[in-house]
Amino acid sequence: MQEINNIIILTGAGISQESGIDTFRSEGGLWEQHKVEDVATPEGFARDPDLVLRFYDMRREAIQKAQPNDAHIALARLEQGLKAQDKSLLIVTQNVDDLHERGGADNVLHMHGQHLTAWCTACDGRPEWRGTLIERPACPLCGEAGHLRPDVVWFGEMPYEMERIYAALSIADLFVSIGTSGAVYPAAGFVREARGQGIKTMELNLEPSQGSHFFDEARYGKASEIVPAWVDEILGN
Ligand code: APR
Repeated sequence: MQEINNIIILTGAGISQESGIDTFRSEGGLWEQHKVEDVATPEGFARDPDLVLRFYDMRREAIQKAQPNDAHIALARLEQGLKAQDKSLLIVTQNVDDLHERGGADNVLHMHGQHLTAWCTACDGRPEWRGTLIERPACPLCGEAGHLRPDVVWFGEMPYEMERIYAALSIADLFVSIGTSGAVYPAAGFVREARGQGIKTMELNLEPSQGSHFFDEARYGKASEIVPAWVDEILGN
């Protein structure tokens, strides 16, 4: 088996599903409860800011009640295990929850933003935020009121950290996709980027994603079961 030194993992809502956080496109998921264009676009925010602020206030509260599951904890164990062997793991997550961090992972990039920071459109600051935004509070950095929005990347906006992600892909020797439907770009295109660079690719998901045919290897099942088993294999436990 090829020597593995640098792993890059892309995660999606499926890795947090067993922590009780709704996914987007599964049965009864968030996009069946709310129209994307109403709560996940700049136009929707301009049209009805209260609807959008309440939507994210609800999710911010739910996330703080959720706990990391065995999949999040296993990835943190993988990060420590690789570090002990002078190898590396980067977790690129599409999720806006902090369950990777609370599960013990350090090297995490939130390409779609984070629920627990707000974005002040007056000073462009991103203060940590655990409360609600519906009451239009003042920004703790600049003092301006009414300019704080969720620090979440909406459709039509540029994901964060893309240069760092492509730089990590250029030195990786394994790309693993966990708990994502492969429905949204640019994340859904990372597997093709990896293949184009001759990087081994693997999918761990409940069911085949929209990009499943691009992966060299795939394992299907619940993340809390298949991710710890895979981590044990990689660490040789
Ligand atoms: N274990 C493993 N996989 C699971 C589990 C589970 N317990 N539960 C669901 N899944 C899988 C589903 O089969 C699906 O393929 O996780 C995937 C979730 O897909 P989506 O709901 O589309 O979520 P995601 O891929 O993260 O969406 C990407 O779309 O709306 C935007 O910004 C939003 O970041 C999000 C992006």
